Formats: sequence, structure tokens, C-alpha cells
Amino acid sequence: MKNINIAVDGPAGAGKSTVSKIIAEKLGLMYLDTGAMYRAVAFKALENDIDPNDYNAVLKLLKNTKIDIKYIDGVQHIMLDGKDVSESVRRHKISQAASDISKIKEVRLMLVEIQREIARQNSVIMDGRDIGSFVLPNADYKFYITAIPEERAKRRLLDLREKGQDESFDEILKSIMIRDENDKNRDFAPLIKAEDAILIDTTNLNIEQVCEKVLSIINISKE
Ligand code: DC
Repeated sequence: MKNINIAVDGPAGAGKSTVSKIIAEKLGLMYLDTGAMYRAVAFKALENDIDPNDYNAVLKLLKNTKIDIKYIDGVQHIMLDGKDVSESVRRHKISQAASDISKIKEVRLMLVEIQREIARQNSVIMDGRDIGSFVLPNADYKFYITAIPEERAKRRLLDLREKGQDESFDEILKSIMIRDENDKNRDFAPLIKAEDAILIDTTNLNIEQVCEKVLSIINISKE
């Protein structure tokens, strides 16, 4: 049977990963959070005192960097040079560094190759910024999930608090808006709604309502 590929894009904090995980579970698909891959490269840069905007230093670092994805009990783990960094990459300070490092074309190409290979071999729902527009232009379904920045900041704040990280609403809102700008305006494979992606504004929707919308469009049954 042909593999099914579903692309989910949108700005930070729109609910992409929560929705994608639920859909993956419901339809028996693999879920791939591509943001974790950019975060892992950014994490390594920061650990090595490298500015994520320093093109030459990042290229050098990239040559000795190995990113792998592992699934343990169906949960994605991001491996950096053989070490599981899934927890560390979720830290708030990694978000901006990931956005910065993701501007570098070579970083993107290295990670996109892994993403495309996973999609070739598996039925997968993949979330990120450029999945429908660049990574999987022929995906079977494409969604662009968004919400107003204030709502996204509110959700991100709750998320971080649950993980025991204390940030202020204003700080989160500011960083979300900077990241939006950064991700939308980079030269190579920016955050953009693919022409054929279905737009879902989740500002006034809860997770169940968003999942319902997505599922009403996806016409496949659990394999
Ligand atoms: O989804 P996230 O917030 O974990 O992503 C962190 C950063 O990584 C995001 O601000 C931009 C970058 N990113 C990207 O450029 N392309 C992707 N497909 C996924 C993430």
C-alpha cells in the first residue's frame, strides 16, 4: 500500500504538534516533529559557544554532527551524535537559536534529507514550517495551522509552565513575534502556506475541534 504523507505547517505555538500527535495516533501514522531537529542543531551550537548566526562556524560544526530520530514506544526521540537530547531541546532559550540556525541553507538541506527519507519509508504526519511548501510538495494532505500571536503565546506559556519553566507572557509573546518574522522572512524555504494547503485558524477552537476539522478532510482509515 502507498505511504500516506501529511504536512502540517504554521507559526510557533499554533498547536501543530498537539494536533499532529492526536491525528497520528487516531490514524496509525508515524509523527515527526521537524522542529526538534533544528532545535538539536541549535542546542549543539550553544553547547559549543557558537553563535547560531555565525555561518562559517555553524558549517564547521555541521560536518561533525549526526542527527537521528528514534521511536521508543511510538514516541519520537531526537538523537544528537548518539545522545538523546529530546528534553534539553525543549528549553525556551533554544527556540530562538533554532529559528536563527534554520536560516542556514546547509542546515536545512541536511535535515530535509532525513525528513524526506522518513516520509518515503513511512506513512507519516510531519509538522514544521516548510513541509508542504518544500519538504513534501507532493504530500497527500497539507494543512496550515495558525492563531493570533496572543493566543499562541498563552498556549506556549501554559506548555512551558507544565514543564516547570517560568517565563512571562510578555517575554513569550515577544519571542513568538520575533520568531514569526525570522521564519517567514528567511531566504531559503521560509514559513509559508503552500498554495494547496488548507488553512485552519485555531484562535477560537479547542484541540478537539481542530482535530475534528482535520479528520473530516483526511479520507483514510486506520491501516
Ligand atoms: O516547531 P518549533 O517551534 O520546535 O521549531 C523551532 C524553530 O525551528 C522554528 O522557529 C523554525 C525552525 N524550523 C524550521 O525552520 N523548519 C521546520 N520544518 C521546523 C522548524
